Amino acid sequence: MTNSTGGPALPQRRHLVTQIPGPASQALLERRGRSVARGLSHVLPVFVTAAGGGVVVDADGNSLIDFGSGIAVTSVGNSADLVVNRVIEQVSSFTHTCFMVAPYEGYVEVCEELNRLTPGDHDKRSALFNSGAEAVENAVKIARHATGRNAVVVFDHAYHGRTNLTMAMTAKNMPYKHRFGPFASDIYRVPMAYPFRWPGGPAACAADALDVITGLIHTQVGEENTAAVVIEPIQGEGGFIVPPDGFLPGLAEFCRQHGIVFIADEVQSGFCRSGDWFASDHEGVVPDLVTTAKGIAGGFPLAGVTGRAELMDAVHPGGLGGTYGGNPVACAAALGAIETMAKEDLPAAARRIGDLMLPRLRKLAEANPAIGDVRGRGAMIAIELVRPGTLDPDPALTSQVAKACHTQGLVVLTCGTFGNVLRFLPPLVMGEALLNEGLSILEDAFAAQ
Ligand SMILES: Cc1ncc(COP(=O)(O)O)c(C=O)c1O
Repeated sequence: MTNSTGGPALPQRRHLVTQIPGPASQALLERRGRSVARGLSHVLPVFVTAAGGGVVVDADGNSLIDFGSGIAVTSVGNSADLVVNRVIEQVSSFTHTCFMVAPYEGYVEVCEELNRLTPGDHDKRSALFNSGAEAVENAVKIARHATGRNAVVVFDHAYHGRTNLTMAMTAKNMPYKHRFGPFASDIYRVPMAYPFRWPGGPAACAADALDVITGLIHTQVGEENTAAVVIEPIQGEGGFIVPPDGFLPGLAEFCRQHGIVFIADEVQSGFCRSGDWFASDHEGVVPDLVTTAKGIAGGFPLAGVTGRAELMDAVHPGGLGGTYGGNPVACAAALGAIETMAKEDLPAAARRIGDLMLPRLRKLAEANPAIGDVRGRGAMIAIELVRPGTLDPDPALTSQVAKACHTQGLVVLTCGTFGNVLRFLPPLVMGEALLNEGLSILEDAFAAQ
């Protein structure tokens, strides 16, 4: 594979020198086929040699526009300067001691930042892990331990990960759960406030959904048995579903009244992506526990659970942890990423991206009746494709449009329970020119269908 230097200094332009995939990527794909398990799929058939700002460079020298950020991870851009500098410094000091063996300051600093930045100014504690799924698992452990209750309520269209407990919490069977059971017990699923598909229409969605959900918890679970309600404030893999105003505050209040731990899974929506530091901030919702990962560390594996001190500290010493959780290099990366987010005001950058993209997408929807819904907040934006005039999902068209974008050098991702949502997650440092060029490629892809 060719060597290449990435980071913000990479030319911020789309530049195709071969077809996608080119010969070098094709050769690597063949090797991949012979060595990597089939269960790992990929969106784009190119092998990456460098990335930075808003572009990804492949093994053939093609420079692609990145509307995916490695699934909402590289919000500060790939190999961002402050991340790289801190990582180099840390990696040359020490790489691992295990925080449970001999602690180090970086871990404490990341926890301080999480306690400061997550919603609410109450006394908080944090614990660090390796992945979003691991954070969600630990949030459930903490909620169960602190309340002495077992039941966990989750939502239609939810995605919380691929471990055994989080598979049980995730809604979609294929590809995440199919033939991977039996799953963890005491998980109860309730409808999601999904304005586009709510039977009574978007205006009725918040109040109706709260009625249905609280009714189901009362009749089928029992408030006194419910340890936690776990919700993504904006659902990610399930289709970038933005609940209507009033829904999250109503749900949080119901939890408060019944001593149920309200857990916001901000793994995808957190760290500036939605135009606020956390999507819960939008309506001033203060979760009891917040899970974070993805955008927290500029591409390094790090995740956190942050929450009320009395809940977090309910667990006995030794009850939480793991060999690598809060690894010093990942903590250094997180501190560099958080510094970048603050210095460059990335919540505002996410809002600017939304302001640029949403009007163009709405215009595209006017010309294309297959686009049934345009939604999102900040730089977490999606379009949902249906058969015109109906709510019937159109996953085939969604996949065709995505492929057409890929061949033109635009990285876009799909999502949704029905596979009919195109989602846009550019790095928050992407410039206007690339954003506009990416949108033009998308418009051309629709015109070509
Ligand atoms: C909301 C949410 N929770 C949890 C996860 C799982 O995170 P990870 O893949 O890091 O385990 C994801 C991943 O997409 C997610 O979007």
